[in-house]
Amino acid sequence: MTPVALGPAQAVAMAALDRRVRMDPWSEAVYHALAMRQEAELWGIMSDAGELIAMMVLAFGPWDIELELIGVDVDWRRRGLGECLLALARERLETTRRERLLLEVRHSNQPARALYERHGFRIDGRRRAYYEAPAPGGQREDAILMSLTLAAPHSPL
Ligand SMILES: CC(C)(COP(=O)(O)OP(=O)(O)OC[C@H]1O[C@@H](n2cnc3c(N)ncnc32)[C@H](O)[C@@H]1OP(=O)(O)O)[C@@H](O)C(=O)NCCC(=O)NCCS
Repeated sequence: MTPVALGPAQAVAMAALDRRVRMDPWSEAVYHALAMRQEAELWGIMSDAGELIAMMVLAFGPWDIELELIGVDVDWRRRGLGECLLALARERLETTRRERLLLEVRHSNQPARALYERHGFRIDGRRRAYYEAPAPGGQREDAILMSLTLAAPHSPL
């Protein structure tokens, strides 16, 4: 399945998918605003029936790209869609000549951490109590900071 670029017209579908995949989803308004931002790219994968089943949000800085979000609908997991989106993120890193792909992930999010490690991301650090507690009354959760650096840096140094 090939990822396609998403725009403001897909904000409703993105927010709906986010509600199905994450515990702290963004609203339709947030997706609409993101789609209007020049430095953001929204990518999705559609089912044959035309439903949005996976998505990724990239935010471009001068040197790095932040992987803000990657999500695959529950019934579509473990079929390589996450890998397909990550491969595209890597391609965007190379094409746009940025140096690193950066992300934060919940300490307990083993599926995502396994996916990132398989793609060569390394752990750079930990941000204490960064995320809301997974359940009401629980403890806040640490973020693990990870990055992927291109093998051949563009810097002449
Ligand atoms: C993390 C997520 C995007 C993975 O998507 P996916 O399409 O299921 O991943 P893939 O099928 O491409 O998996 C690729 C590899 O990642 C690892 N992996 C993925 N899910 C895993 C799991 N539940 N347990 C262990 N390893 C896992 C495996 O190495 C897997 O390869 P394999 O299936 O050959 O063993 C998906 O689980 C998801 O949407 N989670 C909720 C949202 C989220 O937490 N996003 C990340 C933070 S924004």
